[in-house]
Amino acid sequence: MARDFFTMDDFDLSGRTVLLRVDINSPINPATGQLLNDARIREHLTTIRELRRSKVALLAHQSRPGKDDFTSLEVHAERIATLLGRPVRFVPSLFGRPAVEAIQGMRVGDVVVLENTRFYSEEEALADAKLEKMATTHIVQRLAPLAEYFVLDAFAAAHRAQPSLVGFCEVLPSMAGRVMERELMMLARAVQDPARPKVAHLGGVKADDSIAVAKHMLEKGIVDKILTSGGVANLFLDASGIDPGPPTTEFMRREVDDYDPLIVECKALLSTFRGRILMPSDVVLNDHGQGKPVSTRALPAKLPIYDIGLDTIARYVDEIRRAKTIFYNGPAGVFELEPFSVGTRELLSAVAEADGFSVVGGGHTVAALEQLGIQSEIDHVSTGGGALMNFLAGKELPLVSALRRSHAKFGKTAGSAR
Ligand code: 3PG
Ligand code: MG
Repeated sequence: MARDFFTMDDFDLSGRTVLLRVDINSPINPATGQLLNDARIREHLTTIRELRRSKVALLAHQSRPGKDDFTSLEVHAERIATLLGRPVRFVPSLFGRPAVEAIQGMRVGDVVVLENTRFYSEEEALADAKLEKMATTHIVQRLAPLAEYFVLDAFAAAHRAQPSLVGFCEVLPSMAGRVMERELMMLARAVQDPARPKVAHLGGVKADDSIAVAKHMLEKGIVDKILTSGGVANLFLDASGIDPGPPTTEFMRREVDDYDPLIVECKALLSTFRGRILMPSDVVLNDHGQGKPVSTRALPAKLPIYDIGLDTIARYVDEIRRAKTIFYNGPAGVFELEPFSVGTRELLSAVAEADGFSVVGGGHTVAALEQLGIQSEIDHVSTGGGALMNFLAGKELPLVSALRRSHAKFGKTAGSAR
């Protein structure tokens, strides 16, 4: 497949100053400021290490304004240094004089981590603006002249059009970093592989996104079947005429933006794709912390649904085993609580053991994979949550568009190409 974006193979970056945008948005304990998980940081090490003959100014965000884990990137910089085994300098500035001087003073092999891009109002205020407009922001105007190249590695933020993510693509030759490149290649491979059958499991509580994914994947023939669990299954059960009961329905109404229109959408999908959207035939209710298995024929229930049941697990595992490609997103139940972790554990284990090509994504799902210690048995563990779902829903990813534009714009002038 012909690439229409640059990668790190297209340029000789040695001795050059490179702006590197990563996504190291991580869980942080708000009380202590401690980093709770460094999985995203570790993902980017390949890219950072490959740039050891360059001068690297690293850009990233942490959380969002108003949240209690909206912190400085100082702890991230410390962790990068530990993992790399060499000093990394943190500068509490993004494009002010300390940042500019730090970049100008770098030597080959140096890594400077700049401050959280979302500390600066332009990042949010100009989100979704035109690329040309984003290129006029202070961050781009001040930093771009100090660097020769922009490496965009923040796949997990690929659905966010913000100046520090896409603004540089207008003014600097911009390329995908190794995380971004691998994500785009693996996802394209999974989507385009013609071998059948192909299935997607959609669980978790972000059900709005999942409905859009189910629709796109079935309409475009990307998968043959959708296996539903968690909040996604609750919606489809209701749409199919099985009322899950007040505690579950009330929970879903709080979790999704527009419950009733979503049910209408689910009904339409069930009738268009008859027999191709699978729903649980049994579930596990939370009875004061204890699991209570019931058939869905016994619904509505006065207790909330917390997991899928054993019959459902067996049916889904069978589909997963036969599939040539498997997409997996979202826990099947409240897996953080032991009595309700069976569905998630069994389905993910089946995905790990299956012969088919497997793609797993989403923050909670990846956390469950880590708990089970079976990450290495998955063909592609995506760093993306929202980004992956947007991709699978067929939406354009602004970061990919920006890379393409940079390729078109700087293609002819890529004189330093290898
Ligand atoms: C994420 O964790 O989803 C990415 O870092 C993007 O962050 P956002 O959802 O706050 O834009
Ligand atoms: Mg997000």
